[in-house]
Amino acid sequence: MKKYSVLIVGGGSTYTPGMVLMLLSQLDRFPLRKIKLYDNDPERQEVIARACEIIIHEKAPEIEFLASTNPEEAYTDIDFAMAQIRVGKYAMRELDEKIPLKYDVVGQETCGPGGIAYGMRSIGGILENLDYMEKYSPNAWMLNYSNPAAIVAEATRRLRPNSKIINICDMPIELENHMATILGLKSRKEMDVRYFGLNHFGWWTEIHDKAGNDLMPRLKEHVRKYGYVEDESLYTDPKRDSWHATYQKARDILELDDAYLPNTYLKYYLFQDYVVKHSDKNYTRTNEVMDGREKDVFTACRKVAEDGHCHDDLFDVDNHATFIVDLATGIANNTHERMLLITENKGAIANFDPTAMVEVPCLVGKNGIEPLAMGEIPQFQKGLMEQQVSVEKLVVDAWITGSYHKLWQALTLSKTVPSATVAKQILDELIEANKGYWPELK
Ligand code: NAD
Ligand code: LMR
Repeated sequence: MKKYSVLIVGGGSTYTPGMVLMLLSQLDRFPLRKIKLYDNDPERQEVIARACEIIIHEKAPEIEFLASTNPEEAYTDIDFAMAQIRVGKYAMRELDEKIPLKYDVVGQETCGPGGIAYGMRSIGGILENLDYMEKYSPNAWMLNYSNPAAIVAEATRRLRPNSKIINICDMPIELENHMATILGLKSRKEMDVRYFGLNHFGWWTEIHDKAGNDLMPRLKEHVRKYGYVEDESLYTDPKRDSWHATYQKARDILELDDAYLPNTYLKYYLFQDYVVKHSDKNYTRTNEVMDGREKDVFTACRKVAEDGHCHDDLFDVDNHATFIVDLATGIANNTHERMLLITENKGAIANFDPTAMVEVPCLVGKNGIEPLAMGEIPQFQKGLMEQQVSVEKLVVDAWITGSYHKLWQALTLSKTVPSATVAKQILDELIEANKGYWPELK
């Protein structure tokens, strides 16, 4: 079997050790000759890299390891770039969340004004990395986890239409894992799903088992009572509390509209007032992540470096990230596996903008991904999606043309923002906060 060379872009990410451990657990189906890390922050990457080097040496010494902040060195001789960058890091994410909240508007990583601000930072970072890949390893594929995926996907569609980039999201997969547990199945792969939407903005319309039996009635019954929480006892860790509430909140969506099963992120668009009321304006998800995941991962990496070996319980192996290996093997081995991915609509949702980047089941093969036809969607979801996709397209317009007006339109159109005046106030504050990260707006 061919052995692959994989570059993790955003080597200093909190997800990198889990991703490396996951890659090492999948070598039988995705053999590796090299694992490389690339980041533009040498200090941050160094801590993670020292631990990864020890882990790889211990578990698979035949795999070559290299961490670099030099794009040529990092991007030369790779087959896949698995990207997970956060332009502006947690310091900027904190502002994305806290600035809108000052105006009683949802403060969230990818939704509403925070997501728009993050998008304006991410576009340049992803394009820069895509260009490195095309220069130094033109046959490689970029599998991109970096958020906000919807805006990044629209930007790469417009600005790098021929690039080999596939934008992906782990939230539907994470939720499908929950569904499988709720149903008592061994794996989400025992379910065949139909789904339509935008990234962080979609609905499951049908879920069947492999024998064709409808699993929706049992799932809906559970979600109506508990949301996507499979078992309360799994949620004793206070660091996961805000996600716990988000998984639970799906039950309120179902109570109002139980035609489909919603993506959890719809909470920010359908219950804006509730979200603001239940947010702590001084301690947001970023603070939770910095005090939790970031601290845990960096402490664990320092311990591995000190001890010179890896204890198995130090890291969460990124189980849902096996998704990225499914995708890589799908491309490498032309498997035609069916996966939920972000892709240009091109009629997959028949009554929706063909140029929109949508999230639908796709077939994965050697030449990329092909969306499956999801047919026509109802007026309510279509209306919500048209509003949201317009926000995403306007952000990309604003980034390309440097237009203040377009970005104000994007904020004003967001369902999370109550008025054009509030949109302007938040925008003006975000512009100040993002100096040096956004193109200059006129
Ligand atoms: P993080 O801040 O810990 O890591 C991001 C890294 O990206 C940092 O080390 C930073 O220096 C680096 N970076 C920033 N700009 C860069 C650039 N232009 N080139 C190279 N490196 C750059 O963030 P995190 O919380 O680990 O999240 C990373 C990304 O993954 C985010 O976009 C997040 O939304 C997304 N994400 C991934 C998963 C997953 O399962 N892999 C899940 C959720 C979110
Ligand atoms: C979030 O917190 O919203 C996501 O970035 C996922 C995570 O746990 O950080």
